[in-house]
Amino acid sequence: TSAPSSGTASFLRCLAVHLPPHVIYTTTSPSYTSVLESSIKNLLFVTPATPTPLAIVTATNASHVQATVRCGALHGVRVRPRSGGHDYEGLSYRSLTTARPFAVVDLAALRGVRVDAARRTAWVGSGATLGELYYAIANHSKRLGFPGGLGPTVGLGGHLSGGGFGVMLRKHGLAADHVVDALIVDAEGRLLDRAAMGEDVFWAIRGGGGGSFGVVLYWKLRLVRVPATVTVFTVHRARNQSATALLAKWQRVAPKLPRDVFLRVVLQSQDAQFQSLYLGKRTGLVSTMARRFPELGVRAQDCIEMTWIESVLYFAFYGTGKPMELLLDRGTKPERYFKAKSDYVSEPIPSHVWESVWSWLLMDGAGLLILDPYGGRMGDVAPSATPFPHRQELYNLQYYGFWFENGTEVSEKHMGWIRGLHREMEPHVSKNPRGAYVNYRDLDLGVNDVDDGVTGYEKARVWGEMYFKANFERLAAVKAMVDPHDFFRNEQSIPPFPSSR
Ligand code: FDA
Repeated sequence: TSAPSSGTASFLRCLAVHLPPHVIYTTTSPSYTSVLESSIKNLLFVTPATPTPLAIVTATNASHVQATVRCGALHGVRVRPRSGGHDYEGLSYRSLTTARPFAVVDLAALRGVRVDAARRTAWVGSGATLGELYYAIANHSKRLGFPGGLGPTVGLGGHLSGGGFGVMLRKHGLAADHVVDALIVDAEGRLLDRAAMGEDVFWAIRGGGGGSFGVVLYWKLRLVRVPATVTVFTVHRARNQSATALLAKWQRVAPKLPRDVFLRVVLQSQDAQFQSLYLGKRTGLVSTMARRFPELGVRAQDCIEMTWIESVLYFAFYGTGKPMELLLDRGTKPERYFKAKSDYVSEPIPSHVWESVWSWLLMDGAGLLILDPYGGRMGDVAPSATPFPHRQELYNLQYYGFWFENGTEVSEKHMGWIRGLHREMEPHVSKNPRGAYVNYRDLDLGVNDVDDGVTGYEKARVWGEMYFKANFERLAAVKAMVDPHDFFRNEQSIPPFPSSR
């Protein structure tokens, strides 16, 4: 065998030898830009200065992924997997530096969904979107569903890798809690199922964040039962209609409601929008609200009965009567710039702090806040059962800034708003370490240093323990076991530790 050589030219030659030409896009291919941008969601990373991959492989089967990883390992070019491209920091298709060229293996074509309604399972490709999964399930059975996120264009690959939660989380926990098997290509290019990868790796890929342990190609999911009828409502309460008092109470009530009830809040401008999904009929929701949260004043006429799949459309597109086929729309060009951050709240935040949050929401450059309650099933699961440690928190708080115009001044205004509010909230949220959700990736929390070719542990701990708390150490140990040379790497990938060097 020949000695490993380093270099992008030999990597590209290796791809050309081992892959059919129609799945390889290099920077000189006429379609490179359209393939690159096909699933980008954040305009921040569509600039001429953004370091992008030297090649994109649009894999249509496992052997394409295996060959790309093997060529990369042989010639010193790292590979980043991309499924739905929704990474908040764009780490599935861009890097922060041009110093280390990388390639992308794009899994959008690996999007088959095979539902076995009798066994209540589904095998799904990482490139499938949540919308495609929900659509396929509903086509097989009106009584089955899956507890994933709300955004229908989100890719399964990244979503399950980081945990994944949506409006059924209080009843069923995280999306990743329902993974029962997976097929992964490891750093040596081997294709492994759960039995072959072992329980440590299987643990790590269900919430330890994407891009660190290998390329997951397929996931076997356990589906959940849903009732024939569910009920939703959305009610708005303005700041001057006692929204502050309602928020104060919501923090105490929402995480303790019966687990069939999910009640989130979206704060924007001077408005609190309370959105609910109830796994049952209208009368049940109206009476639970009247008993547990009468101040919110939810009336029967606010509540709409529908099927589970209609509720998926309701939360995705804010309304009723939308065609189910909308779930199959993978989206086209990105249309906004955005920046997000997250916190976990362990103790109710006092009303005077909410008053100051309202002032932040009035500022030029303000975005919105999303408060997703936990409790229920989430609290039943041990924080070490999966890499996702935030099981006992009251709720997740997401800060979301977005804008549509290009320009440094505009982006600095919005970035300044979100960073400022996040800083201001520090005394009121989880501590030691302050928590954050890896699927709301935020490079402000820290970026890896690469020493001697391998990601350093100490610097990575800073962001790592915010996402994973005590599970970070086990993630690093699993990484050292399966990828000691740190082949799968990005600015926030899990470092191998103890390191073999
Ligand atoms: P992308 O392809 O960008 O991958 C994300 C990360 O995972 C990257 O590091 C990538 O390298 C890695 N990766 C991707 N595929 C992989 C694979 N097959 N194997 C290994 N690693 C892989 N979250 C949530 O919990 N609930 C929600 O309701 C929503 N809603 C939502 C809406 C919108 C509009 C956006 C933009 C995002 C969300 N999210 C969310 C966050 C979402 O769960 C998160 O961004 C996911 O990581 C996106 O997965 P993709 O495959 O789309 O991203």
